[in-house]
Amino acid sequence: MTIDLDVAAVRTARPRKPLRDRGEDAVPAHHDRRAMWLDAYRGVRDETERRAAPLSAEDQVIQSMPDASPTKWHRAHTTWFFEQFLLGPKLAGYQRFDERFAFLFNSYYVAAGPRHARPQRGLITRPDASEVAAYRQHVDAAVVQLIETASDAALDDVLPIIEIGLHHEQQHQELILTDILHAFAQNPTAPAYDAAWSWPRQHGGDGFVTIDGGVYTIGHAGSGFSFDNEGPRHEVLLQPVRLARALVTNGEWLAFMQDGGYETPALWLSDGWTHAQSEGWAAPGYWRMVDGAWCALTFAGLTPIDPAAPVCHVSYYEADAFARWAGKHLPSEAEWEVAARTDELADAFGTVWQWTRSAYAPYPGYRAAEGALGEYNGKFMVNQMVLRGSSLATPAGHARVTYRNFFYPPHRWQFMGLRLADYDA
Ligand SMILES: [Fe+2]
Repeated sequence: MTIDLDVAAVRTARPRKPLRDRGEDAVPAHHDRRAMWLDAYRGVRDETERRAAPLSAEDQVIQSMPDASPTKWHRAHTTWFFEQFLLGPKLAGYQRFDERFAFLFNSYYVAAGPRHARPQRGLITRPDASEVAAYRQHVDAAVVQLIETASDAALDDVLPIIEIGLHHEQQHQELILTDILHAFAQNPTAPAYDAAWSWPRQHGGDGFVTIDGGVYTIGHAGSGFSFDNEGPRHEVLLQPVRLARALVTNGEWLAFMQDGGYETPALWLSDGWTHAQSEGWAAPGYWRMVDGAWCALTFAGLTPIDPAAPVCHVSYYEADAFARWAGKHLPSEAEWEVAARTDELADAFGTVWQWTRSAYAPYPGYRAAEGALGEYNGKFMVNQMVLRGSSLATPAGHARVTYRNFFYPPHRWQFMGLRLADYDA
């Protein structure tokens, strides 16, 4: 089976209805509301299985590094999320599929109890892939029952949990792809996830988007879904700045490499230089020299580098060094959001996440949610950097202009790239 990861094709696999009203819709009649949420639930759950379908049982067990998780674990963990936070507390008489799964498939929710060590997820051969499929079906049947039979009042209480569960599962859908690509990159035979895959076409764009200095408002507002870290909406003061319309390309990155970018310590943050040396970085992640030409492992296997395509799989440290080499800087997340709202940034979404120079920190007035789901975002707000936009692996409809992704500065196994900014406007 082949999976077409073309953005348009992924979009067709999305739920036929939005996950929630986009802010302009009246609250639908209750009957329609149930039908809409059943449709959304099934659509997202099916998309997870669609992404896992090309992978063998052996593929689904492997954990190639502590930060990546096995496909089978992603499929089970997203299911546990509904069991833990929705069915256990909200569906009377719900019987857990297997009491042991809470320990195996809890990720980081301390309030939800003890959990298996993250770096050892790849050691779990049982339950096998077919048992995980049965686990998913068991939970799906219960969630459908809950949506269909809950009283209207109970539904008001239940739907926000289903909603965050679906957005959570979409985040793991992206990780299914990035984690298996990392695993395949360890394989000397360079397996293909989908031999027919190709990079999404870029829109490109020349020059810069100019942002005047002044006070702007960023962050999420309105009734549509957002994660808690996207608010509160608040004012920021920007200096005059301009952001490149286009993403940095492989061709530009090759110029950086040929100019000694990876051998010039003055271009690097101290921590970045240390990482580059200890990891032996001399090119972006997954790049290999083959018969004198650079190739990269992609979903289609090992393919020649396209100089016009956006550079990908670079860490924050590398992106920062490149920006210094180019005499520019990485935009702050506020600069990025203000520029993106002009709709003049090319490829802001759907190709590569874009590193910003902003530390992942709470917005003014941020308070984590009450209860176990309060662990979702807030406790990670230290030592990581924000990325904006979305990537080719992000499920269509998942990203927003206010979306804040975050990773540690050395990470580069996600679809991470950059666009430059300049204060010399
Ligand atoms: Fe999770």
